[in-house]
Amino acid sequence: MPQILTVLGARPQFIKASPVSHAIAKAGMSEVIVHTGQHFDALMSDVFFDELAIPRPAYNLEVNSLGHGAMTGRMLEKLEAAMLAEKPDLVLIYGDTNSTVAGALAAAKLHIPVAHIEAGLRSFNRRMPEEINRVLADHVSTLLFCPTRTAVQNLAAEGITRGVHAVGDVMFDTTLAAIERSAGRSAILERLALTPKTYSVATIHRAENTDDPARLAQIVDWLEQRARTAPIIMPVHPRTRKLFAQRGISPAGLTLIDPIGYLDMARLVHHAAAVFTDSGGLQKEAYFHRVPCVTLRDETEWVETVDAGWNRLWQGPDFAERRDIPDYGEGNAAHLISELIAGTLK
Ligand code: UD1
Repeated sequence: MPQILTVLGARPQFIKASPVSHAIAKAGMSEVIVHTGQHFDALMSDVFFDELAIPRPAYNLEVNSLGHGAMTGRMLEKLEAAMLAEKPDLVLIYGDTNSTVAGALAAAKLHIPVAHIEAGLRSFNRRMPEEINRVLADHVSTLLFCPTRTAVQNLAAEGITRGVHAVGDVMFDTTLAAIERSAGRSAILERLALTPKTYSVATIHRAENTDDPARLAQIVDWLEQRARTAPIIMPVHPRTRKLFAQRGISPAGLTLIDPIGYLDMARLVHHAAAVFTDSGGLQKEAYFHRVPCVTLRDETEWVETVDAGWNRLWQGPDFAERRDIPDYGEGNAAHLISELIAGTLK
């Protein structure tokens, strides 16, 4: 039986892994999950494994709360040991975090094929740690699963054409499952006494936004102005919470809440009037729920959402005319990925 070793570490990776892990099991392959420990508390990690029924990690490397060099370095060392012990036929990595690049590099050096889910995304901003992680991971991957045609073109522009497959977006698979599961299981609207379509949802966590005090203040100011017309609910990422506390920021008109689970988030976004975010995943989820999004960044990897009128940059032009986006697939990306992996490992 082919064995896959999957590297997970951060919240968006748990969300992407859920449909893929189920499809891998269904296809008769075995999977060992290694959690790097990058996101570690119950609200940022455990709740996703529970709610999305992701198999329990066989390893937790407990690497977190370090600078980029130390974090990536320690992960690399511990991931190599896990890979040597497990001898997988393939290593599966997701997205653009430090856990992604550490997994890619550890496997490539051991000559284990790497499959990258969400390959080919580019912001063309090399000051973002995520952009460096994406470029490096893609260049050592054997199988590159792209969520969009733009991603395929981005890879071609860097000379990567072998092993590239446009399969659609696994987060669409997860969203469809969550819409179904959250009905009757999430009480978030009742808990916060919210009426559908009368509130907005905001998140901020990118280092490019949080680490520069002037920029963070500018974003908070923008959100406060928006909150004058409709209340804003903000589940606060630990990075942002720390910085708000250090700088004494308590935004007027924003309801700050702890990070919430996936089913609560799906229901909260589904009924929101708008989403304001610097998260990559949430920009697309807003579209999946057909809620307009304003992206709190100067560029986005998800250019289709902007072209199709569902997203715009906060300091950019107004929304384009709205249309659907066929690129993200039909909610069967995880199935396509598991078939392609099984075909390669035969
Ligand atoms: C990371 C990823 C980013 C991804 C994001 C999703 C990198 C370079 N960045 O950013 O691509 O979009 O995850 O959230 O890998 N913390 C806690 N509890 C937790 C997790 C984190 O307190 O469960 C704290 C950490 O100790 C740290 C801060 O939050 O001080 C930031 O965490 P970190 O792992 O550095 O990166 P993220 O900002 O989450």
